[in-house]
Amino acid sequence: MFRSRRTPTGGGVFLEMDRAKAEARARGLEVVDLSIGASDLPPPPEALQALREAIDDPSTYGYCLKSGTLPFLEAATDWYFRRYGVELDPRREALSLIGSQEGLAHLLMAVADPGEVLLMCEVAYPSYFGAAKVAGLEVYLMPLGEHLLPDLGAVPEEVARRAKAVLLNYPNNPTAALASEAFFAEALEFCARHNLLLIHDNPYLDQALKPTPSPLALPGGRERVVELFSFSKSYHLAGFRLGFALGQPEAMASLEALKAPIDFNPYLGIQRMGMAALAIPQARLQADAEVWATRRQAMVAALAQEGWSVPFPQAGMYLWARLPPGLPLDDLQFAKELVAQTGVALSPGRAFGPGGVGYVRFALVQPEPVLRQAAQKIGAFIRTATRD
Ligand SMILES: Cc1ncc(COP(=O)(O)O)c(C=O)c1O
Repeated sequence: MFRSRRTPTGGGVFLEMDRAKAEARARGLEVVDLSIGASDLPPPPEALQALREAIDDPSTYGYCLKSGTLPFLEAATDWYFRRYGVELDPRREALSLIGSQEGLAHLLMAVADPGEVLLMCEVAYPSYFGAAKVAGLEVYLMPLGEHLLPDLGAVPEEVARRAKAVLLNYPNNPTAALASEAFFAEALEFCARHNLLLIHDNPYLDQALKPTPSPLALPGGRERVVELFSFSKSYHLAGFRLGFALGQPEAMASLEALKAPIDFNPYLGIQRMGMAALAIPQARLQADAEVWATRRQAMVAALAQEGWSVPFPQAGMYLWARLPPGLPLDDLQFAKELVAQTGVALSPGRAFGPGGVGYVRFALVQPEPVLRQAAQKIGAFIRTATRD
């Protein structure tokens, strides 16, 4: 009775994994949690210092209305200009978010009506499914083809006609795939042809060794793209809940209007923390990108030693791996049994949508020696499971 049709059911796979981890801990196993993409690297000290100073300044304690967010939005658009060479208007083309997850869910509600179609990949960050449901949208899942990219040209004309937006995310969670500028240009062209909004969720841009493209910066991008940015992955500030949206002015105005009865903007001290983070020179962020690259390399090599050949991704904090052949377990059974027997927790691929069945995701959020040990335990587990 007290449940709307738009309230997501589920969390099923994650709840099952949460239970499996708790049971492993209760039995005295040390759990090595590679199932959650929460960075273990330290946040920038100057960002934490900015927050500390704000807490000691009572003038920061009140509600923060739009004008109060302008310094943050200017910092965000300045950052985007330094990064991608495109000058945006902080008043019309930028909005603060309580994390990009919040931003995406509200953006879908703000720009699309119930029953309209959202085009997204068949393997995707789980909250996209819930966000689409909350917005009452029909989801059309695009299969992943070559390079783990969707083929927009294969979307049926009738579906494209009913669609309102395309949702993409590169560098990708969970596949760690990258998209080229040419891919985004094609996606923009597709969106222009069908009058769609291109939403690009871009929290992992600093986890690549080379710059990654931003569709908002491509010709025609400002008319058709909203891009979401987060402090959770670049600056290891996930719990502080801060992000921002940049892009198409009408969509931004709709998002702002939708959020007005729902939330006030983030605490001013959190915004100042974000401004300090955005001022960090790119060279320092590169050091973290190298940590992720080294971990990707180390884990791929360690798994190969155990006989599990996993593709080597160019970016991100994840490995996306098809289960080794001959295993008598599906991805959920594998993840549950693995944590029960070894304490190593991975995410079952099905948590990321129907295209993830038969895969698992490793979040490389532990130092290299821990990753290597985990790979050895996984190897031993696979040998036993395959023998049984
Ligand atoms: C693709 C993607 N988008 C958004 C988020 C959440 O970002 P935020 O902490 O800014 O809400 C995550 C977190 O893992 C993610 O993987």
